[in-house]
Formats: sequence, C-alpha cells, structure tokens
Amino acid sequence: MTSARTVLITGANSGIGLELARCFARDGDALVLTGRDTATLAAAAEDLRRAHGVMVTTFIAELGTDAGITALLGDIAAAKLEIDVLVNNAGFGIHGNFTTLDSAEELALTTVHLLAPWRLTKAYLPGMVARGRGGILNIGSIYSFSPAPWQALYGAAKSWLLSFSLSLREELNGTGVNVTILCPGTTLSRFRTRNGHHDRPSWFTTTSAEVAVAGHRGFCRSRALVVPGIASKFYVFGTHVLPTSWLGRYVYYTAYRLRGMPAPRLSEGKKS
Ligand SMILES: NC(=O)c1ccc[n+]([C@@H]2O[C@H](COP(=O)([O-])OP(=O)(O)OC[C@H]3O[C@@H](n4cnc5c(N)ncnc54)[C@H](OP(=O)(O)O)[C@@H]3O)[C@@H](O)[C@H]2O)c1
Repeated sequence: MTSARTVLITGANSGIGLELARCFARDGDALVLTGRDTATLAAAAEDLRRAHGVMVTTFIAELGTDAGITALLGDIAAAKLEIDVLVNNAGFGIHGNFTTLDSAEELALTTVHLLAPWRLTKAYLPGMVARGRGGILNIGSIYSFSPAPWQALYGAAKSWLLSFSLSLREELNGTGVNVTILCPGTTLSRFRTRNGHHDRPSWFTTTSAEVAVAGHRGFCRSRALVVPGIASKFYVFGTHVLPTSWLGRYVYYTAYRLRGMPAPRLSEGKKS
C-alpha cells in the first residue's frame, strides 16, 4: 500500500476507532473522522493534528439512521474528498432477551452495523477499484464466528460483516484493493461500559490500542482476518472445532459462566 491516503474512519472519537486513527496518522495519512459528539471529536482531531501533523477533517454523523448515513455521504461529497481507505468501525451493542428488547434500538443497531458499512462501501469501493489502490477495514467481533445469545442481533450483524468482507475480498482479487476484517474479543472501551460491563484488565481483555495496532498491521499486510489477543484466538479456534449445535452453550460458558457473570433470564427483560 502507498502512503498519504485519505482514510475515513467511522466512530473515531473513542475506543478502537480513535486508536486506528492514531495508527493511520503515524503513516502520514489524511484522516476523515466521524463521531456524534462535537466536543470529543474536535478534541481527538486536534490531538491527531498536533501529534502527527496530518490533515484531519471531521463530520458529525448519526449512523443509526438511513438519513444520517445519507447526510454523511452528502457532506463528504460536498467537501470533495476522495476516500482511499474506509474503516467501518462505528457500533454499539445491546444486551438482553431478544423478546423484550426495544425495537427502535435494534433498528439503530442493525442500521449502524449493516446499512452503514454497506452504503459507505457502495459509495467508495468503485473509486478505489478505478484507482487500483486502497481498501476497507471492517471491525467485526469474535461473535462473527458464533451465535451471541443475549446479543442475538449484534452477533448476527457481526457474522454478516464477516461474510460480506470475505466475499468482497475474493471479488476484488487482483484489483489492488484490499479488504480486511478485524475481529476483537473483549476490549476495554466505552462499548462495554455503555452496556453496563465494568471489566478490569485480565487475561481475556485487550486494550483498544492493542486491537487497533494489530488491525492496522494486518490491513497494511493485506491480511483477510485479524483476531487480536490469545484469548480471542482460542475462542475462535473453539468455534471451528465444536459441533454447530454446541456453539450457543459455548458462548454461555465462555462469556458468562467462566467470568462468573449471570446471563439475563427471560423474566428480567433488558439487563446486563
Ligand atoms: N469493545 C469490545 O469489546 C468490542 C469487541 C468486539 C468488537 N467491537 C466493535 O468495535 C467497534 C468499536 O467499538 P469500541 O469498542 O471502540 O467502542 P466505543 O469506544 O464505544 O466506540 C464506538 C464508536 O462508534 C460510535 N457510534 C456508536 N453508535 C453510533 C451511531 N448510531 N452512529 C454513529 N456512530 C456511532 C460511537 O460514537 P459515540 O461516542 O457518539 O456514541 C463511538 O465513536 C464496534 O463496531 C464494536 O462492535 C468492540
């Protein structure tokens, strides 16, 4: 890959997205960052400009609605920015029994995890192919490889992203455009605290910076898949060797029992 690309990162005001922005900035790439909070996004952009001397453009974008995605595409077009690298990172999780979760929240989750990557890819991939360079870095999850009970839609969305990424990667073979999917496990970021989980660093957690560095390195080396951290690698290995009918229980034991966390019961509704 050549340097001085223009890299669009969604959800770049915190966590993995912000750390990926630091990685691309270290390469001298120009950044186009989206976030929903004006103050934190402006602070992140200023910090990146000062530390790395790169050009940083920011857009406030709500990607949980189709209208918000359309607005972002319009803003980028109006600014005449050519996107060389697209990082589909923005996302959030909802946790609880599917039967009782709020449909409006589920629609936003599906929109941010499926519709936004699809529409942004549709908009920017043809240009990358025409120029014969660039790529897409999608942020999946270890749940891309297994069911995710009590996060059923989230897990399904991340599985969709894995299939989408690997399919495009094969279609793009020989074009000079790369597609990589980064599949982290439990990563210390606001993603988890928003969901009510207050993890301490442990053998199964990774930091946002560790995840981003591994993902950026894998993307620059045109890897198909990056699973950062030994615990996540072990988890993904388990999904490949266990019978399909066991995978729901596998998640239950690894995500809840092993960590001493209670899984939500049907009577509890939306709980962490
Ligand atoms: N942390 C983990 O354990 C973990 C594990 C596997 C995969 N992931 C994936 O990693 C990605 C980044 O998550 P993170 O851990 O870095 O969490 P994070 O710190 O909460 O960052 C998520 C980013 O996405 C943005 N976002 C969320 N909902 C949005 C919406 N509706 N419209 C626009 N932007 C939205 C957030 O913006 P606001 O700050 O404005 O909300 C934030 O910038 C996500 O796709 C997540 O699914 C995380």
